[in-house]
Amino acid sequence: MVKINETNKKMNLLTLPGDGIGPEIVRQATKIIKALSPDIIIDSAPIGGAGYDADGDPLPKTTLDKAVKADAILMGSVGDWKYDKLPREKRPERGLLRIRSELELFANLRPAMLFDDLVNASSLKPEIVSGLDILIVRELTGDIYFGEPRGIHRNNKDQREGFNTMRYSENEIRRIGDVAFQLARLRKRRLCSVDKANVLEATELWREVMIETSQDYPDVTLSHMYVDNAAMQLVKDPKQFDVLVTGNIFGDILSDEASMLTGSIGMLPSASLDKNNKGLFEPSHGSAPDIAGKDLANPIATIMSAAMMYKYSLNQSDKSDLIEKAIEKTLAQGFRTKDIMSKQSIEVGCEEMGDLILGNLFNE
Ligand code: IPM
Ligand code: MG
Repeated sequence: MVKINETNKKMNLLTLPGDGIGPEIVRQATKIIKALSPDIIIDSAPIGGAGYDADGDPLPKTTLDKAVKADAILMGSVGDWKYDKLPREKRPERGLLRIRSELELFANLRPAMLFDDLVNASSLKPEIVSGLDILIVRELTGDIYFGEPRGIHRNNKDQREGFNTMRYSENEIRRIGDVAFQLARLRKRRLCSVDKANVLEATELWREVMIETSQDYPDVTLSHMYVDNAAMQLVKDPKQFDVLVTGNIFGDILSDEASMLTGSIGMLPSASLDKNNKGLFEPSHGSAPDIAGKDLANPIATIMSAAMMYKYSLNQSDKSDLIEKAIEKTLAQGFRTKDIMSKQSIEVGCEEMGDLILGNLFNE
């Protein structure tokens, strides 16, 4: 019998372009992946509004089946105002939340790093952000996003009342804690756990379990911060942080805030990983329907998400480095999409930004 050599096995990538600017940004990242991995097998499937249009479901069964089988998944973005009136279960965002939950992608890594050439694109002063390199580790399959009971009902005062439940079990906290401590070990060994333990029991337990977990990582310094303070510290002195670990809802909010430190939300990639490091890679930003199809979107967050795919899921850090260097070079050459434009720069569209980065991949 022929033994399959794992490293020579052809990789299967599933792309989920989604809605809005999703298709155009995924197209740019796909070009780069094809250049780096000519053998990779790439399939594509609809999700979000595109899933609903194709199949009446924001996560069609065929899409989920393909996602289960793929080695890695690259997603664009989901959502469009035209689906706002649909029942909640049919809305594009549900497709994304369901795939995260079905594949148990509990660890969401959102690195916020500032390329030197973008120091003036940030809304903060250069001395506050230059050299910034922080990693937000967001728990992705629990918390108030998924907690039951939830709903909108009529209460006993005959008022409509909306309710959700913030819920975390200790094993959910421990497994994201382990991921964050291990990632901190590969960096500056400083982990800040963000909670609201002074008010919310769910996050009081979060803090307790983080402290327990820290016993296994004596080489990492653990600190704690309330989420309101963390939001303030992120704009006051973001470089005090190395790795931040937090729950689903706080991580959602803090990562959007952190993106502004990097110049634009168009610069923030993300990896959502399961316990075996299989992952879904997607930019942290939304579908921006207002600029969709106009060739205005910044594809860099998606291209950096492809770099994270090589690093975390495919074990090919060399390719992830090549991508990051190509982006750095393209920015140093002065090319910018509209969202990161500055006076002396040359404005390019989404497609051209993709081509420029591709051109810089193999040119030292
Ligand atoms: C994100 C997004 C999603 C989230 C939405 C689109 C459901 O904001 O990935 O940060 O809230 O997780
Ligand atoms: Mg978000």
